[in-house]
Amino acid sequence: MKENKKQQKTVDKNGIRPQVREVVRPQIREVIRQHIVVCRNVTREYHTGDVTVQALRGLTLEIPQGEFVILLGPSGSGKSTAVNLIGGLDNPTSGQVMVQGEDISGYNAKRMTEFRRRKLGFVFQFYNLIPTLTAGENVEFALQLVSSGDTKARARELMSLVGLGDRIDHFPSQMSGGQQQRVAIARALANRPPLLLCDEPTGNLDVQTSQQVLQVLQNVQKIEGSTVLLITHNMSIPPMADRVVYIKDGVVDHVDVNENPVPILDLNW
Ligand SMILES: Nc1ncnc2c1ncn2[C@@H]1O[C@H](COP(=O)(O)OP(=O)(O)OP(=O)(O)O)[C@@H](O)[C@H]1O
Ligand SMILES: [Mg+2]
Repeated sequence: MKENKKQQKTVDKNGIRPQVREVVRPQIREVIRQHIVVCRNVTREYHTGDVTVQALRGLTLEIPQGEFVILLGPSGSGKSTAVNLIGGLDNPTSGQVMVQGEDISGYNAKRMTEFRRRKLGFVFQFYNLIPTLTAGENVEFALQLVSSGDTKARARELMSLVGLGDRIDHFPSQMSGGQQQRVAIARALANRPPLLLCDEPTGNLDVQTSQQVLQVLQNVQKIEGSTVLLITHNMSIPPMADRVVYIKDGVVDHVDVNENPVPILDLNW
């Protein structure tokens, strides 16, 4: 409640903080143009009673368009907080979050929803499929929210993309964890998102199933052209990524660029 009041005061009628209209230096404009995600000095504080937690303490991060990027770091280092801010699920306390050149840092709830619908796909550790709908219907339902075309045909296409063309009529309860996660990925692609955010998508899965899910995500990157940003705790996974961002204590500790990413089947688990 208190937070909302504060937010209302600092945004204009379009839900944008006045600072968004500041003059942006040409060098920074170039960085924004070349990267799908740009975070500049982002902080996020949580207030619970008398306790303040600084989840992010000045996160600065640039993610190039079209890459497969992994976010790695100890528990509590701020990975999910960062992904939630990039995905427009939350507002930063200070700093800027830009996605495809759009500064979303000061967006109100309405603009955030609209932004997510245009730009974002989400995959979480838990699949959250609707149990009373078949796999195909789960995907179609998401498609109906964002498009008016032939949603049945597109749902079939997406189910094939995730390697489940023959499971369209199965209910979630009739599928394995890995298969359900792949349905969740197909669903996340309904709006053809330029950016797919995945928070521990293989957290619940065994090695072989994790590899299948990673392969599907890499296909999404290569075939659909989405940029993939994935959080994981699994130290076996980073060699398959184009870029690995190490987060520590709410800031970027360092970034490794893999010139030659390892094929997923060759990862050592
Ligand atoms: N809603 C919240 N209210 C209060 N504190 C929070 C909230 N969300 C996160 N935090 C705190 O912010 C810090 C960063 O949390 P975050 O979830 O981003 O970590 P993480 O790197 O994703 O960890 P994990 O690997 O365990 O998922 C933690 O100290 C956490 O307790
Ligand atoms: Mg987390």
